[in-house]
Order: sequence, then structure tokens, then C-alpha cells
Amino acid sequence: MRQHKLALCKEHFLVWFTEQTQRFINKYHMFGYEDRILVAVSGGKDSLALWNVLHRLGYQTDGLYIGLGINQGTGYSAESLQFTEKYATKYNHKLIVVDVAEFAGATIPEAAALTLRGKGKPCSVCGLTKRYIMNMVAHQGDYNVLVTGHNLDDEVAVLFGNTLNWAVGYLARQGPVLEETAGGLARKAKPFCRFYERETAAYALLQGIDYIYEECPHATGAKSIYYKVQLNQLEADRPGTKLSFYLSFLRAKESGFFAHQNPAVQANLNRCQTCGQPTSAPEQCAFCRTWHRVRSRRAAAA
Ligand code: AMP
Ligand code: FES
Ligand code: ZN
Repeated sequence: MRQHKLALCKEHFLVWFTEQTQRFINKYHMFGYEDRILVAVSGGKDSLALWNVLHRLGYQTDGLYIGLGINQGTGYSAESLQFTEKYATKYNHKLIVVDVAEFAGATIPEAAALTLRGKGKPCSVCGLTKRYIMNMVAHQGDYNVLVTGHNLDDEVAVLFGNTLNWAVGYLARQGPVLEETAGGLARKAKPFCRFYERETAAYALLQGIDYIYEECPHATGAKSIYYKVQLNQLEADRPGTKLSFYLSFLRAKESGFFAHQNPAVQANLNRCQTCGQPTSAPEQCAFCRTWHRVRSRRAAAA
């Protein structure tokens, strides 16, 4: 690990990785042993590694898998569910599965085709739907915190994009923890936000975790992947660049750099008139508006 000027054997890497996770949980006050934790698992290396290490550290965790129905040509969703279910069965963990087509009436690619009419990628409706379902399950199941497997490479790509655009509202919200809001948005944490992707992959491999290697087929050409390529170049020339970019950002944030940017909408959330979930919109939340359009266009086309 050039970025840490550290080389470890299997045994010591696993100890180091586990201790570091605990250190990040403590440092950012993510959660404690009394908390019920909902782990969003996609079947990929990061989220399965996260579930594994949290369980080994003795935390109370259940998993949530969201079936997106992205199967054309690749069988991506079907395969990622298989990996997740196999993992949950092997370790005897509770896994909650929400299938978008059953829950909302169409798969993500169908919803994207109906709302975007062939223009654009399904990623925005997918992101919106995943966030909605994660929050809903966390709320319904009385979980204290929702955790995701975002790693340093993910976080730095987002940070880079937000910085290029000086998207101060998003910068103010980015960080290892997003506090619960009064309106009912669940508390969120990213215990792996300081691990390089290579480190989470190494952990998964060394722990013998089987995970899906493929990325979502719609990720090809995404801006975040382009940023990752550029950032990898910087990292190759100057090891540690990603980590120092992220940590300097967190320090700037802690010193109040973005304090006045905290979006006021967070404090004034309304209740969606259809589903009751918190929303910054005056009447219906973005999920209900989008999926209402999907279902009516689907009915009209039938
Ligand atoms: P991604 O946006 O695909 O990079 O995923 C980031 C994190 O979101 C993952 O590490 C998971 O914690 C969570 N996640 C992504 N896809 C799903 C899914 N289909 N079901 C549950 N959690 C997911
Ligand atoms: Fe959502 Fe790819 S479009 S994971
Ligand atoms: Zn709603």
C-alpha cells in the first residue's frame, strides 16, 4: 500500500483492515454496539466486505438488497441477488429483499424507458428509487442507521465532481455521516470512506467472500468513471493524493468552510401527500411523482 508506505501479509492485513474500520466508526461517531444497523448490500465487494467486517466486530446488522431488474443481456441484477443471498445464507444473516418491479410496478430499465423516452441513462431514476427504498426500510424496521459500502475512490470521484462544479450544497452534505433529519430521513454512514478500492477488494478476496465482479452495465460512460480514471492517474504519479484530497476536504468542512451552505430544505422537510415520506417538495415526493408517471404511461401504452 504505497499510499500508507505499508506492506502487510494476509494475516496482518486482515487485522489492520478490521482495526481501521473500527477506528473510522469511532472517529466519525457512526454507531455503537447498541444500534441496529441496516447494511445496504449490492452483491459487490464493498458492501459484502462491509457486512462481513461489521459482523466480525460484533455489531447488530441486517442486510437490505434492492432488486433493480437490470437483466437484459447481462443478468446483472439476478446474479448480484444470488451472490447476496448466498452470502446471507452462509453466515446466517437476515436479508431483506425489495424488488422494485413488485414494489413500484416496473423494473428500473422499464421505468427509465417510460420516463426518459429513450434519452439518457436509467441511473437517476435508479438512484432516486434506491435512496427512497433504503430510507423506507430503515424507517419501517426501526434501524438506527443505514450503512453503505462507498469507498474512498467513490467518495473522491463525487468530491472531485462537486468541486469542479463548486456544488456547495452537495459539498456541505458530503461526509462519512449524514445525520438523521427531523422530518424522518434515516441517519446514514459510510464506514469504508477512507479505504482505497484496492483495500476493500483485498479484504473481500482474503476473507474468501464471493462477489459479483461486473459493474452495472449502465455505468459505462458515467462521469464518475471518467473522474476515477483521471484520479487514478494522479494517484499513480503521487501515491496518497486521493486520501489527502478527501481528508483536507473533511478538515475544511470541520473548520466551518461550508457551514453557511447547509441546505435549509433539510430543516423544513414536508410529508409527501401520497406516501408520507419526508420531502423538500411542497406536495408529492420525487419518488411518487416519478413512479406515478411511469405507471400511467405504462397503462396508456398497454
Ligand atoms: P454504487 O452506487 O453502485 O457504487 O453502490 C454504492 C453502495 O450503495 C453499495 O456499496 C451498497 O452499499 C449500496 N447499494 C448499491 N446498489 C444496491 C442494491 N441494489 N441494493 C442494496 N444496496 C445497494
Ligand atoms: Fe442503477 Fe446502474 S442504473 S445501478
Ligand atoms: Zn411519496
